[in-house]
Amino acid sequence: VRTRVAIVGAGPAGLFLSHLLGIAGIERVVIDARSRAEIETTIRAGILEQGTVEVLTESGASARARTVGHKHDGVEFGFAGERHRIDFADLVGRSVWLYPQHEVLTDLIAVLTAAGQDLRFGVRAVRVEDAASDRPRVIAADAEGAELVIEADFVVGADGSRSVVREAVTGSPTGGYFREYPFAWFGVLCEAPPSSAELIYSNSANGFALISQRSDTVQRMYFQCDPDADPTAYSEDELWHELQSRVPGTTLHQGPIFQRDVLRFRSFVAHELLRGRVALIGDAAHTVPPTGAKGMNLAIADVMILERALRALLNENDSRLVEAFPETALHRIWKAQHFSWWMTSMLHVAPETSEFDRHRQLGELRTVIESEAGRRFVAEAYTGWPLEGLA
Ligand code: DHB
Repeated sequence: VRTRVAIVGAGPAGLFLSHLLGIAGIERVVIDARSRAEIETTIRAGILEQGTVEVLTESGASARARTVGHKHDGVEFGFAGERHRIDFADLVGRSVWLYPQHEVLTDLIAVLTAAGQDLRFGVRAVRVEDAASDRPRVIAADAEGAELVIEADFVVGADGSRSVVREAVTGSPTGGYFREYPFAWFGVLCEAPPSSAELIYSNSANGFALISQRSDTVQRMYFQCDPDADPTAYSEDELWHELQSRVPGTTLHQGPIFQRDVLRFRSFVAHELLRGRVALIGDAAHTVPPTGAKGMNLAIADVMILERALRALLNENDSRLVEAFPETALHRIWKAQHFSWWMTSMLHVAPETSEFDRHRQLGELRTVIESEAGRRFVAEAYTGWPLEGLA
């Protein structure tokens, strides 16, 4: 197969990039090892920054983000038995939308399929060759193991944290800056009415909990757990007890828990994001811990930068924006890395935390919450820094 842009990965980064390149009239092929059904049903993130919603709706990728998604004008922080609201609308005049990632993906796949996009599920990238040449290639294998070679003007690795494309860019499958955390999130989906109108990020002596929502009848909640926790080891009663003990002052509406998972955390930024004519975006380029809801939003921000650069390269033969892509993207990536690390460390209770650190953490939360500047800092970062505009 020959195309202009070979995109490896049909997650938010790969599909949204394909959508924007389609608008620009640039031919591309997208492959993903997973099936369409798996992509459309795997439960992932939930929060879209205002800028993400704007680019998704204005580009025609997902009108439903705004119409079906729920606008949230603030979040609550809980600590020391108190509850404090951060009013985004009042502080920065911006909001976020609760609209699950798999719904964004469902919308994008529908739009791309209707537009005749060459979108191949069940096709696994094996390696990328000749990254530094004018004609890089993706070597892939279909479900039956038959080899597929995609030759392109440019290859994009949007293939997630276990990226296969990364090695062609950084020289190693793992090469990057990273840190790990001594805790994870235990996530549940339950059938119950919402326990809170807005998200609650709660720091408690028993550890962190996040009360989120999905709809009037389905709720998403998380609590801090050991990274090696076995999701099947808890009874539903034990899960409700863990959750409830971490949100004093709120009575959780309980209901059947129909999905449970343990999410391990990492902070990661690849040492390189570009080599010749191969670039990394989304989780292939960086991973953030989930506290602060930056993962999918950062993927969309990468796409805005790379898509403009690819248009200049492929339509005008101007490579300057592509060459500048890493520096441009890393500016936001490291800000998001900081915010995600900071929210994580401020809200969780690490296993070996000293008494000093526990009190210092409560002092930090008070410093942020009692200061308008502190609340505004959270509001600016959470609702999202300005994005590169649409064309
Ligand atoms: C959700 C996940 C997050 O990581 C977050 O910060 C907020 C909400 C969610 O799944 O609803």
